[in-house]
Amino acid sequence: MPLLEVKGLEKSFGGLKAITDLSFSVPEGQIFSIIGPNGAGKTTLFNLLTNIYRPTKGSIFFNKKDITKLPPFKIAALGISRTFQNLQVFMNMNVVENVMVGCHLRSKSGLFASAFRLPSVIAEEKRVRDMALEALEFCGLKYYSSQPASALPYGILKKLEIARALASKPRLLLMDEPAAGLNDTETMELCRLIEAIRDSGITVLLVEHNMGLVMEISQTVLVLNYGRLLATGPPRDIQKNPEVIAAYLGEG
Ligand SMILES: Nc1ncnc2c1ncn2[C@@H]1O[C@H](COP(=O)(O)OP(=O)(O)O)[C@@H](O)[C@H]1O
Ligand SMILES: [Mg+2]
Repeated sequence: MPLLEVKGLEKSFGGLKAITDLSFSVPEGQIFSIIGPNGAGKTTLFNLLTNIYRPTKGSIFFNKKDITKLPPFKIAALGISRTFQNLQVFMNMNVVENVMVGCHLRSKSGLFASAFRLPSVIAEEKRVRDMALEALEFCGLKYYSSQPASALPYGILKKLEIARALASKPRLLLMDEPAAGLNDTETMELCRLIEAIRDSGITVLLVEHNMGLVMEISQTVLVLNYGRLLATGPPRDIQKNPEVIAAYLGEG
């Protein structure tokens, strides 16, 4: 049963077609990777899936529900969350506060209750903090909880973003180049973390340039080229596909 289905998706920016007639489906429980050269449309696809960009054509189904026209907050509430290609961390907040931001789409208190700090709000805040701490623990970051984000190295901040995306307890996690800028040790840790996320029951849609990582942990790889699907299949088939080698992977 596919968790996510994309049908005939297109996105134009003026005269430029960033995504053309793209259809694919993502089975639940997989690490499903999207690869392709710079400018292939990978980030645009993530922005379409979360309705940051409205598609020019086509439709998107999540858990059989048509989400094509839903606003981003509703898509998030249905269980799709993401990390960004460029770090989106609030440097003036500490680590746990940064992660709590990711829980707020699930919080229930209204403005009135919040303004007067009613007991329901205090209980709610504790619940949100506990969810954030749980996500930090899962990502191996609990130790950093009360440290200011501005004091932490890039590798930790990348993991912090993952913790924030997990805090809302998504069913589908979109990750845009999580290994970019990480050293070898951090990349190895990231591999294990992404597998642990998958093993916890969350389906992962991964955009990544590190081919070692992609081929090691993915069940399915989809290759985008100039906004079109070039090939899709298990890593070993993709690695020996002559069109993919010519367009992207290169010889050797
Ligand atoms: N908001 C935008 N306005 C105009 N063009 C855009 C916009 N976002 C992306 N593009 C263009 O769409 C194409 C795909 O970009 P992108 O999705 O960022 O590629 P990738 O993430 O695969 O490197 C590029 O040619 C890019 O310049
Ligand atoms: Mg990109």
